[in-house]
Amino acid sequence: MEIIVAKDYADLSRRACRIIASDIKKKPDLVLGLATGSTPLGTYQELVRLYREEGLDFSRVVTFNLDEYCGLSKDNPQSYHYYMFENFFKHVNIKPENIHIPDGTAVDVESHCRKYDEEIARHGGIDLQLLGIGHNGHIGFNEPGDELLTVTHVTELTPDTIKANSRFFNSMDEVPKKAITMGLGTIMQAKKIVLLASGKSKAGIMAELLDENAVSTKNPASFLLLHKDVTVIIDEEAAELLKK
Ligand code: PGA
Repeated sequence: MEIIVAKDYADLSRRACRIIASDIKKKPDLVLGLATGSTPLGTYQELVRLYREEGLDFSRVVTFNLDEYCGLSKDNPQSYHYYMFENFFKHVNIKPENIHIPDGTAVDVESHCRKYDEEIARHGGIDLQLLGIGHNGHIGFNEPGDELLTVTHVTELTPDTIKANSRFFNSMDEVPKKAITMGLGTIMQAKKIVLLASGKSKAGIMAELLDENAVSTKNPASFLLLHKDVTVIIDEEAAELLKK
């Protein structure tokens, strides 16, 4: 695991963008796994800037998002579909047919999840997966628990996550209680993973992840310790409790 300590959020975003841009240049049909939340916003802004100023070409890039809330339609401003188009896709030359995001309104959700994994496999797997991390160690919406599922599935959000994500909604009651998420197996099969952590609120979980050398379903991100190509980009605030 490579750990890069960035000066601040802007530096973290530039560094993440540089890794993604360099991989797209090496492989123009890169299969890119994407995350939502506050943390990757700066990375998306930087990628959009590179598209505009340097012609970074997304025309052959294929994307798969980690997760989506159940029950929210694509045009709901709180959905991850909406987030992705507003913050990234509509500003670059990615082809709509190359964008994949779980559908929170799928009627046969089990079959939808199976097809999502099949589609990832059909594209040869994810080349580069971008991840954020929850305060409780979740990646995607793989929440801490007694077991973690390997495949894309429907999951119940923990009270912690509902509370953390309520900042994007009018009230806690409006936060969906379920989501579709890639499973730990799907994520771990990505050839390369970049995990971003920014701000003091992530310092505790990052110390747990990086100092303890232990894998536990109580901290889903800890499974990344078993992956052979993970880069963690952490800013100074999120790194402040690290012993190493
Ligand atoms: P955040 O969310 O980037 O908004 O902190 C991260 C996550 O919950 O995975």
